[in-house]
Amino acid sequence: MEVIIAATPGQVGCIAAGVIAGIVGKKPDAVLGLATGSSPMVVYAELARMRHDAEIDLVATRGFALDEYVGLAPGHPARYAAVVQRDIVEPLGMTPENVTVPDGGSLDHEQACRDFEAAISRSGGVDVQILGIGTNGHIGFNEPTSSLTSRTRVKTLTEQTRADNARFFNTADEVPRHCITQGLGTIFEARQLLLVAQGKGKARALAAAIEGPLSSMCPASLLQLHPRATVVIDEAAAGDLALTDYYRYAFDNKPASSGVRFGQGPCGQG
Ligand code: GLP
Repeated sequence: MEVIIAATPGQVGCIAAGVIAGIVGKKPDAVLGLATGSSPMVVYAELARMRHDAEIDLVATRGFALDEYVGLAPGHPARYAAVVQRDIVEPLGMTPENVTVPDGGSLDHEQACRDFEAAISRSGGVDVQILGIGTNGHIGFNEPTSSLTSRTRVKTLTEQTRADNARFFNTADEVPRHCITQGLGTIFEARQLLLVAQGKGKARALAAAIEGPLSSMCPASLLQLHPRATVVIDEAAAGDLALTDYYRYAFDNKPASSGVRFGQGPCGQG
């Protein structure tokens, strides 16, 4: 696992967007795994800037959302289908037909999950999966004790997750109790995992994910098993890590050919 500690949240977005741009530059129809939540918004903002400045073209790029609430009304602004359209597809100039979100409104949830998995398979698989992390270590909506080999399925949200996400709803009661989420086994099949996080509220979960034991009690610890997992976090989010000196040393001494470095281009400006 590569752990990159950025100086600011903006730099988190810049470094992670650089990773994605590198992949799309080589493969314009690359498949992105799209996380929602507030953490990846800095990544999408930087990709939108790159698009605006004609540094990237995502018209042919495909995408699959990580998860979706079950049972929200079709027009509800907190539906991830709406969030993906509003905060990702439009500003990044993606083609709406190229982006698939699990169908949280289906009456047959199991079929909706099978259809979603089949669509990922037909696409050839996810090239880079963008991830946030919940305060309890969840990725997607795979709550603690999710099977490490799980596939896309309906999950029951923890009260912690419902409380954390209440800010996107008018009232806490409005937050659904169920969701459809890519499974941990589904996420693991992406060719690269790219987790971003900011703020001290994520520090404990990140320490468990990066330096704790591999355990379904911290679903994000699955990244430890993946051959290409990159974690980009700011100083506050890195606050509970033990090996920060090593992560900085490793990044500062990366071979020049291997990726983005601080101090170059907009990433150096925070
Ligand atoms: C939700 C999403 C996750 C996200 C998590 C953290 O539960 N399903 O994909 O990683 O929230 O969200 P935030 O980045 O807003 O803290």
